[in-house]
Amino acid sequence: MQRLDKYLADAGTGSRSEVKNIIRKGRVTVGGRKETMPDAKVGTGQQVCVDGRPVTKAPEHVYYLMNKPAGVITATEDRAERTVLDILPDDLPYITPARRKKLFPVGRLDKDTEGLLLITDDGALAHRLLSPKHHVEKEYYARIEGKLCQDAERRFELGMDIGDGDKTLPAKLIRISDSEIRVILVEGRFHQVKRMVSACGAEVVYLKRVRMGDLTLPQSLSAGMCGYYSRP
Ligand code: URA
Repeated sequence: MQRLDKYLADAGTGSRSEVKNIIRKGRVTVGGRKETMPDAKVGTGQQVCVDGRPVTKAPEHVYYLMNKPAGVITATEDRAERTVLDILPDDLPYITPARRKKLFPVGRLDKDTEGLLLITDDGALAHRLLSPKHHVEKEYYARIEGKLCQDAERRFELGMDIGDGDKTLPAKLIRISDSEIRVILVEGRFHQVKRMVSACGAEVVYLKRVRMGDLTLPQSLSAGMCGYYSRP
């Protein structure tokens, strides 16, 4: 048994005080009967409706896909900079204030990097996507200046020294044109794409992550926008 106001707030109907108002106005039924007391109890299996529409219980975990814009940092909070959590909209499904506190971005993108960023409260999934053991592919589109060395593809494939002590794991470089490339990595070192491109003689001037494992950035999601995914 759960309090009706908590049930509705957890389901994303509104904040605790908003749902109390909705209940008191007589807009809520529990098991087909109107209920106007916020502290009424909801039993398992009882259907709760608001304005006649069934309320579905919030899922245990939520998954928001953001097209991170340049200029925000990949962190949950920061004193000086705007973070990806700061720009996460309030009208996404199931995004209650309590849920918001548990959300975190999966992996890091530099402040000036755009593209696919999963924001979730599912620690196990984040671990699976980020653990070096699992070799989940991360695919990037980059615009570059300067000229990549002739054997850059081979150097990406074989792994290279970018100053970390150990060589990078095998990666893929695909040239789209003289100034555009795609890079596929299975690890996530600090500034990795920029440093690998630099080690091959060119400079990244624009970087966007377009894929992480099976998750591809939808074309319809422009920079700064977010979508909800029931399960990645
Ligand atoms: N590689 C980089 O250099 N920057 C990113 O943000 C991600 C990968």
